[in-house]
Amino acid sequence: MIGVTHIPVLCEEVIQNLVSAEYSLFVDATVGGGGHAHHILERYKDIRLIGLDVDEEALSIAQEVLRGYGERVKLVRGNFKDLKEILNGMGVFSFDGILFDLGLSMYQLMGGRGFSFNDDCLPDMRMDDRADLTAYDVINTYRYDVLRKIISEYGEEERAHKIARAIVEARKKRPIATSRELAGIIFRAKKKRGKIHPATKTFQAIRIEVNRETKSLRTGVSDAIDMLQGRGRIGVISFHSLEDRTIKEIFKTSTVVNTVTKKPIRPQRNEIRNNPSSRSAKLRVAEKR
Ligand SMILES: C[S@@+](CC[C@H](N)C(=O)[O-])C[C@H]1O[C@@H](n2cnc3c(N)ncnc32)[C@H](O)[C@@H]1O
Repeated sequence: MIGVTHIPVLCEEVIQNLVSAEYSLFVDATVGGGGHAHHILERYKDIRLIGLDVDEEALSIAQEVLRGYGERVKLVRGNFKDLKEILNGMGVFSFDGILFDLGLSMYQLMGGRGFSFNDDCLPDMRMDDRADLTAYDVINTYRYDVLRKIISEYGEEERAHKIARAIVEARKKRPIATSRELAGIIFRAKKKRGKIHPATKTFQAIRIEVNRETKSLRTGVSDAIDMLQGRGRIGVISFHSLEDRTIKEIFKTSTVVNTVTKKPIRPQRNEIRNNPSSRSAKLRVAEKR
């Protein structure tokens, strides 16, 4: 996308806490626009990197950004829930470090794919355009109680009942055809206004449902821990409390990794000023025993 750039969040913190000069293979499980990958490859000239992303557009951007690194980089389209299978298929059975940078890239958010409240297009929200389920299906076909549960659980939205009711009422007249329309319905249903846009939590919930994010995260992170070499490190950058709690719990209950970051690493004030979308980022790191 011309004119759009995704700034990698907590980039220096990732390099300091997750990468070492002794590493030979690093996996970027969410390579996105190649931001973190570029900095890692630039800093450590002997590291090879495998970059994974489920989004075809993201991969073509990463391809451009990482072109100069030649054979040191391999990019693969795939879901990190299939990490083991994908890497095994490439003859890779272990690696030294891995990063999961969750959430959306600017290319996705600004790409007219229904992720944004202002998008006057079909509410799609798929990261993988080969998947069947879209946000349009969720909001126009899911039963009230299912919608309410999703909005409440995945969005941690207190007014899930009101929002689910408003969606179901609105679609009785005609299907909800755009993300902007959906944001308007939520805006009107949710009378209380806070610091964030009233539709933020509901959009997050629908996106999690569409992309089956909860299940993918658990599987991907657990398999990554299995495949890590001894003393290798795994880092996860999350953007909402549901994800962060999941990671904290996986690290804590694992018998093969030690949590390195007792408290998550947050962006400094400077970073938030330069890149406001980094404000909710939290990086947790664990090391294989
Ligand atoms: C925040 S962006 C990553 C940005 C990247 N670190 C950079 O610096 O350019 C998150 C990326 O993760 C990808 N993604 C999300 N869920 C995924 C999954 N289950 N498997 C693979 N990629 C996924 C998205 O498509 C998106 O490109």
